[in-house]
Amino acid sequence: MTLSDPGAPAARKEALAQRYSAVRAATLELAEPLSPEDCMLQSMPDASPVRWHLAHTTWFFETFVLREWAPERPPFDESYEYLFNSYYNGIGAQFPRPRRGLISRPGLEEVREYRRRVDADLLALLEAGALDGARGAELAARVELGLQHEQQHQELVLTDLKHAFAENPLHPVYRAPVGRSAGPAPGPTGFEPFEAGEAWIGATERGGFRFDNEGPRHRVHLEAFELARRPVSCGEYLAFVEDDGYRRPELWLSDGWDAVRERGWEAPLYWSRRGDDWWQYTLGGLRAVDPAEPVAHVSYYEADAFARWAGARLPLEAEWEHAARGHAVTGHFARPGGEHPAPLSGEARGLERLFGDVWEWTASDYAPYPRYRPAEGAIGEYNGKFMCNQRVLRGGSCATPEGHVRATYRNFFYPHMRWQFSGIRLARWLG
Ligand SMILES: [Fe+2]
Repeated sequence: MTLSDPGAPAARKEALAQRYSAVRAATLELAEPLSPEDCMLQSMPDASPVRWHLAHTTWFFETFVLREWAPERPPFDESYEYLFNSYYNGIGAQFPRPRRGLISRPGLEEVREYRRRVDADLLALLEAGALDGARGAELAARVELGLQHEQQHQELVLTDLKHAFAENPLHPVYRAPVGRSAGPAPGPTGFEPFEAGEAWIGATERGGFRFDNEGPRHRVHLEAFELARRPVSCGEYLAFVEDDGYRRPELWLSDGWDAVRERGWEAPLYWSRRGDDWWQYTLGGLRAVDPAEPVAHVSYYEADAFARWAGARLPLEAEWEHAARGHAVTGHFARPGGEHPAPLSGEARGLERLFGDVWEWTASDYAPYPRYRPAEGAIGEYNGKFMCNQRVLRGGSCATPEGHVRATYRNFFYPHMRWQFSGIRLARWLG
């Protein structure tokens, strides 16, 4: 299909409408096993209730698509602009995030109705030929941004829910794990060498969707390095725990050591000791820690301390991206939604499990690439204003929707955070 093909606009509209419906339905599917009470839980200021995610992703389309492309359409409810705005100061004030769990109304059914109405209006907008107009390409790009945004929230639905369920002594099962089998213990990590030289980093303007923070594409110089062929396993991390890793200040960054003491960390989030064994809470319920599984739910501080203990370091994001380019973006992504980590097995022959198991902490600050400029207006607040004091993570996790990440994708969190499926891949200097 080319742009000169007379059938192209109709096919483009159809493809976008189908994709819109599929992504929106996938969010509802995540909420399917949950009760209205489950959907209200907020266990900490960084997490949000599932119901808030359902409403906020809808607010995004209403605010950044319908309000701009159908200005005559009245909002579904004027109060939603305040209630479900996350952080866009250009739109207006926001209800405080730490208190989102207090908004018992609108109820779940009203939020579902909100979704249905916005979906109908947005699909009607596409049907009415808005994609063919002067701003058609811009509209298509904005809808795609909304869908990518919704996929990011799909992951947050799972991680926020896990954090809340983990507080419940009944260890609720969200979805039973499917086809999970413990494999043999993985072989030695092994490292893949890379020569020093110039590398191109970042996404190009052409090709599929990318967030603004993935560009502009630019050159970097890399020193010779080697990258672990697979992520760190729970068994390897357990050796660090049992070697008093959490009691040895020499292994920790100063801020990390403060976090260990103030927060009482002695293992990854969701791990608990039962006699001589370690157990972990998962969305499939409580189970023994599987030594063959990639370790998850560690902070940057823990990843850094583990790397120091192991005689290695965390990779720079440019090293990670350079090494990952050309690798197929396949892995253990969330299908259809849940937690599906897969055990590591055997001896890795090349780089493995780059995508879709755990987000891998890098040693790089989340900073703008050279010549980066956020978009004009409130939508420019999406990524750029967070480029301070956070670290970049790469690769996607077992809670990331399939098809959402790529080699240039930059996730970012503060170094103390560990409620995401964040793990570790080691690197070392060469020469
Ligand atoms: Fe958002």
